[in-house]
Formats: sequence, structure tokens, C-alpha cells
Amino acid sequence: MEILHVGAECYPIAKVGGLADVIGALPKYQNNTENNVNVIIPCYQTAFRLENDFDCVHSGKLKLGNFNFPYSVLKETSNKLGFNLYLIEIPELFDRPDIYNYRDDIERFLSFQIAILDWISEWITMPDIIHCHDHHTGLIPFMKKYCPKYEKLKNISTLITIHNGLYQGIFTFNKLYYLPEFDLINIKELEWGNCINSLAAAIKSADKITTVSPSYLNEINYSDNGLETLFQRVRDKSKGILNGIDTDIWDPRKDPMLESNYSISNINEGKQKNKEQLCSLFNMDPTKPLFSFIGRLYNEKGADLLPKVVPSVLTTYKNEINFLILGYGDVRIENELKQLLDEYKGNYHLHIGYNEELAHKTYAGSDFILIPSRIEPCGLNQMYAMRYGTIPIVRRTGGLKDTIIDFEDNGNGICHDQATVEDICDAIQRAVNLYSNKDIIDQIKIKGMNTDHSWEHISQEYIELYNLIIAKRHEN
Ligand code: GLC
Repeated sequence: MEILHVGAECYPIAKVGGLADVIGALPKYQNNTENNVNVIIPCYQTAFRLENDFDCVHSGKLKLGNFNFPYSVLKETSNKLGFNLYLIEIPELFDRPDIYNYRDDIERFLSFQIAILDWISEWITMPDIIHCHDHHTGLIPFMKKYCPKYEKLKNISTLITIHNGLYQGIFTFNKLYYLPEFDLINIKELEWGNCINSLAAAIKSADKITTVSPSYLNEINYSDNGLETLFQRVRDKSKGILNGIDTDIWDPRKDPMLESNYSISNINEGKQKNKEQLCSLFNMDPTKPLFSFIGRLYNEKGADLLPKVVPSVLTTYKNEINFLILGYGDVRIENELKQLLDEYKGNYHLHIGYNEELAHKTYAGSDFILIPSRIEPCGLNQMYAMRYGTIPIVRRTGGLKDTIIDFEDNGNGICHDQATVEDICDAIQRAVNLYSNKDIIDQIKIKGMNTDHSWEHISQEYIELYNLIIAKRHEN
């Protein structure tokens, strides 16, 4: 089977969040003698682009309304990623350092999608499936289905995976002329809330929809993303498939970013060495329990609660625990967290920014990882934490609910129900009490390390789904 994954991010080429980790790992586990797997993302001005070799395999000119943009398709030559990587180079729109948050994001990602379909239209043998990820590629199923220009692609099956339903790629109908021509009778397939909604269009036009966890699929039917009733309508073609993690990269036995490698057999000694190194970076005492938060600093992740949680627990526990936060995002939250630095010096540290190596070191060197998300479609941090013998403290939502069970119910972590300062502090208190109970804490850590969240079998679930869609297409 010829599979195309299309999305905005892919680790290690371009990463903002978990989307990159998934697009950088799932294809690797699908690529074998039976499947040829390709990943297509835009060509940003990232270090990976500059440091690796590429062949230009195609070039052309794409039309976005009245604009014409020259584009090229670059193929990474070494194949070291475990799949074929193609970058769509549209210099005017993507030759920039960041992935998102430009004023012309709509034009950028729509051009990216048009370039992909233009290019595939020139292939001699068509791919079997286009697997779209999130709204940045959400108009592909629509254009493929309804634009006569892409008639040749009509037998390709499409699937959209929703990593985060909060972001939908919404724009007004006065940009409708950007899309290649189609019969206006189908215009309703693009529309949601009187706008063009890229995610809604994908939900309507794709052959199948998946969310990145089963619980998230249930939640989006009633949560406030604005698409609830649409999700209810397409329930029959939707499925929740829990993400996996790349267990090759996330492996404490061989992770080159760690101070000291370890496995279950020397977990305490191994973690202690990593903790000592991590604490020395931030002048913290490694004999105290270390609580960390790693992630984007947004309300969605519950990060707005941290500026209250930190003083509350550090006042209660005075000098008994340490707190480390790695992340960036909402400037207001960043500033509030910075303001606490002086007062809680020695017990609290903050690293603003994204640093993959520091994240690995933090998973290995921490005792507990806090994930107080309001919304968490899957969440990979709890899986990384467990793999490194670190105990997750999570709010029961989305994928967190599907992966973590409270230790009092014989589980693998600590859970709370509300995204409130009180509930989080209460969970931290339970963790502090647990810290002195070495037997139980060791059992929880080992349980986490023994949990299998590899892509090995999950990637197969996707292949089965592709086969199902393809078989159905042949029936019709
Ligand atoms: C998004 C979601 C996160 C998920 C990730 C990968 O970042 O917010 O929950 O784990 O995508 O699917």
C-alpha cells in the first residue's frame, strides 16, 4: 500500500508539539515490505532543512486565487528517518523560521495543500491513502473529492486524524476564490458557522475520522469546540485510536541525551544520577522530590493555574519539594511564572522555551510530572514519563483518562478530576505523602516502565482502517 501522511509538523524536522512526534513516528512503524510510507510537510527554514541533503523531485507553479506561487518538492536523500520525507518548498510563504502564527497562515497552508494535490496529480501510480493530520491539511479531502482539476485523484481514500479540535482553520467566504473551481452545489461541505472551516470540511469529506484517543472522541461530542453537532452526525465513520510513542527515541536504556542510562533493573540508581545532574543545572537539592511540568503554557493545558499552584505548594511544603517548569506560550503566563523566581529561589526554576534535550533530561530526573490539562486529546507526556520511571499526575480527561489510573485503584499514577488549583494541590499532597512510601512508589514506577505504549501494534490498527476504507471504496 502507498500511504501519504500530510501535516504541518514532523519530528525532527519541525516541531511545536505532540503532532510532530506522531507524524515523525507512526509512519516509521508502518513502513515495511508491504507499505511504502511518505510524509509531506512544508519546507520551513529549520535546522534540519539546512543540515541535510535533499533532491528536488518536482517543481511547478501553484495557483491560489489570483496569486501564482512557484513551488518545489524536495526529497530527503538519506532515508534515515525510516520513511520517505518530502518537503513542499514555497519560498514566499514558508521560508521563515516559525511554523505557525503568521498573518497569512490561511494562504500558507492552503497553498501547501494545493501544491500537494497538483504534484500527486502528476504521479503515474496513485497512492492508496492520504492520511491528513489536523486542520492544516483539512481541505485536501474536500478538494480531492469536489474539484474537477483533481479528477484523477478521485479513487484515493482519505482519513483525517484530529489531534486538537480547538484549532479549525477558519476563514471567511471572501477567500473562497482561493480554492480550485468546484460545483457550488457542494459549497455546504466547506461551511460551518457561516465560514469556511477547514476541520469541518475534512470531517464532512474524509472517508474516516480518527481522534487520538477514545475518550477524546466521546468528549468532542459535547465539549465546547463548536463542532459538537457535526461530530455527532459523523459518529459512524469516527474512531478513537490512542497514540503511541517512539520507543526507539524514548528509551532510558540508550537515550544519548541522558547523563546516565538505566533500565528497570537499576531504576533508582539511574534516576538518581539524572536527578542530580538536572538539579545541579538549576541549583536545586536532589534529595527532595522533584515535580515538573513540560509543555506549552496555555489555558488548554491548565498552565494558567501553575502561577497559583507553585506558591501554594511551596508555602505549604516550605523547603521540602522542588518545582521545575519547561515551556513557552502565553506571555501572560510566562510573566506570572517569572515573577515567582526570586521568592522561591532554590526550590523553583523555570525554563522558557522549547529544548528537546532538556525535556528528555527532565523526564529522567523528575519524580513526578504534572499534566493538569483542561483538554488533552491524547497527551504523550504521561507516556514519556512512565517510560522513564516518572509518575504522572494527571487530570482525568481525554487521553490522560485512557492511559492513567490512580494508584489507589491499583494504577500507574495520580489522578484528579478538576482543573483547579485546589485539586492540583491536593494531588501534589498525595504525591508528597507517597514519596516517603518507597515500596509503593517503586511499584508504581515499575508498572509505568513496563507499560507498552509503542507504535508497533497501534500502527497496525491504522493499516486495518485504511484497508477497510479502501475495500469499501472498491465495493461502491
Ligand atoms: C496535540 C494534542 C495532544 C496530542 C498530540 C498528538 O498536541 O493537544 O493531546 O497528544 O496532538 O496527537
